[in-house]
Amino acid sequence: MRYVVITGVSRGLGEALLNQFETDEDTTVLALGRGFTDAQRIAAGKRLILRHCELAEPSTLPHAAELSELFEDADEVVLIHNAAVVAPIGPIGDLDADELANAVAVNLTAPMLLTNSLLAALPATAGRAVIMFVSSGAAHRVIDGWSAYSATKRGAEEFFAHLAEQCSDDPRIKVEIVNPGVMDTGMQETIRGARFAGQQRFLDLYENNELPDPAAIAARLIEEHLQA
Ligand SMILES: NC(=O)c1ccc[n+]([C@@H]2O[C@H](COP(=O)([O-])OP(=O)(O)OC[C@H]3O[C@@H](n4cnc5c(N)ncnc54)[C@H](OP(=O)(O)O)[C@@H]3O)[C@@H](O)[C@H]2O)c1
Repeated sequence: MRYVVITGVSRGLGEALLNQFETDEDTTVLALGRGFTDAQRIAAGKRLILRHCELAEPSTLPHAAELSELFEDADEVVLIHNAAVVAPIGPIGDLDADELANAVAVNLTAPMLLTNSLLAALPATAGRAVIMFVSSGAAHRVIDGWSAYSATKRGAEEFFAHLAEQCSDDPRIKVEIVNPGVMDTGMQETIRGARFAGQQRFLDLYENNELPDPAAIAARLIEEHLQA
């Protein structure tokens, strides 16, 4: 049995990834988030577990004991850190303190805590574990107003680079840092609604129908990074 733990499935890329895993009968998905779609609620059951958690609040995240119980018969475990926030966008000095703290908690702290718990819970029977961090090109360049998003994505990439190094002698564990590229999701709506230099590029992508469907991105990520 393969277990896939994924954050942020209520919309966007997370919802698209979940749709694809649902078609695989040998996969059980543990979806972590603060909201779920009607379709997900209807499909919930033994192979789709909807586990409410507020990623900005560490006490609501599953601990190792909870994961360990779930993974009892796991041959393979996949953890996908998908959920993220792009806000706050704006000049440092003007950023809302709560939004800034939320960005760090969701984009950086939650992936670190979840990964720590998942590795502690990994059963000896699991022949393979993949930890995928969904990052962004913004982790490696300065974009006007995007300091919180860039810094948290860059910080998390560094954490997963350390994990990759730690696991380099363990062929069971694969660490994947992926950049999905721009896509037509709520995050792009937030970007279009903000004000920053260089925003026109994002407005043009939308106006010219150049934002890919997250379903296509989800299929590519699975094919390129999660196939055995
Ligand atoms: N869209 C792009 O162009 C783009 C480009 C490069 C990289 N990415 C990356 O791709 C990934 C997916 O992005 P997306 O575009 O699909 O984003 P999105 O449409 O904004 O969806 C974000 C998901 O994260 C969840 N989330 C946010 N804050 C949360 C919290 N505090 N607790 C629980 N869940 C929370 C949201 O749940 P709620 O519905 O509860 O808010 C939602 O399910 C992200 O890591 C993003 O950085 C996106």
